[in-house]
Amino acid sequence: MQEFRWKDSLRLVLPPLLVDIYRAVLIRSGYRAPLSALLKLPITPLEKIFPGIGQAEIQIPCSQLSRGPGALPMTEYLFFSAICRYRQPLRVLEIGTFRGSSTLAMAVNSPDRTEVFTLDLDPSHKKPTKYPLNIGGLENHPFAPGELFLQTPYARKIRQLYGDSASFDFQPFYGTMDLVFIDGNHGYENVRSDSEQAFRMLRPGGLILWDDYYDAFPSVVRCLNEIHASRPLLHIERSRLVLYLSA
Ligand SMILES: C[S@@+](CC[C@H](N)C(=O)[O-])C[C@H]1O[C@@H](n2cnc3c(N)ncnc32)[C@H](O)[C@@H]1O
Repeated sequence: MQEFRWKDSLRLVLPPLLVDIYRAVLIRSGYRAPLSALLKLPITPLEKIFPGIGQAEIQIPCSQLSRGPGALPMTEYLFFSAICRYRQPLRVLEIGTFRGSSTLAMAVNSPDRTEVFTLDLDPSHKKPTKYPLNIGGLENHPFAPGELFLQTPYARKIRQLYGDSASFDFQPFYGTMDLVFIDGNHGYENVRSDSEQAFRMLRPGGLILWDDYYDAFPSVVRCLNEIHASRPLLHIERSRLVLYLSA
């Protein structure tokens, strides 16, 4: 018979006990577990959504190799550019220009005659927005809307619009857009309102892309999970991009 050794028992019991104590302390101090468990949209490889996209050749201006805070990370930037290159949209609307990195990606990777509309808050108009501003810490970051594309040959394809997307009159665009990109105010109500407008702006066969479907933006995650109950959304694998493809 084996002799009972209290040291061995301690070795078995102590580590899980310590983990439990550690967890309890974290929770009591207000720590919230990562939201990854909330990412519920079907994760789908880009190639499965767009067969042959792997062959798409994208263009990146060297100025975009390093883009600073607030712009799409490089993986999303490349996926986004590839989608434009593959789909060849002729009318595009973006909510959330910021410095113009994603706008430039769309203009560079779409046909010559494509019109790119991009909306941001009017920098000279300090009116409060309909919903509180939530742009992940960029709220006080100084920038000039579109500064990254203004001095490029692509500026002629781009039309800068100004206004609060939650109260902007999108009606003239209804039923006309091949691609709508949503990357403005990340607060729940605003994402909801931008998404509703985007669905109205799509023409048949058009698509909507959202950025920031990940832990850092629970409001975006919640809103897109809810939309998925009535409209099929896909979470593009290895990215934080979400896509809706209209019939
Ligand atoms: C995350 S940045 C966009 C980044 C940009 N798409 C890129 O990839 O370079 C969000 C932008 O949305 C703009 N924005 C925030 N709330 C808005 C609103 N209600 N209407 C229009 N634009 C808004 C902000 O001023 C900011 O420039």
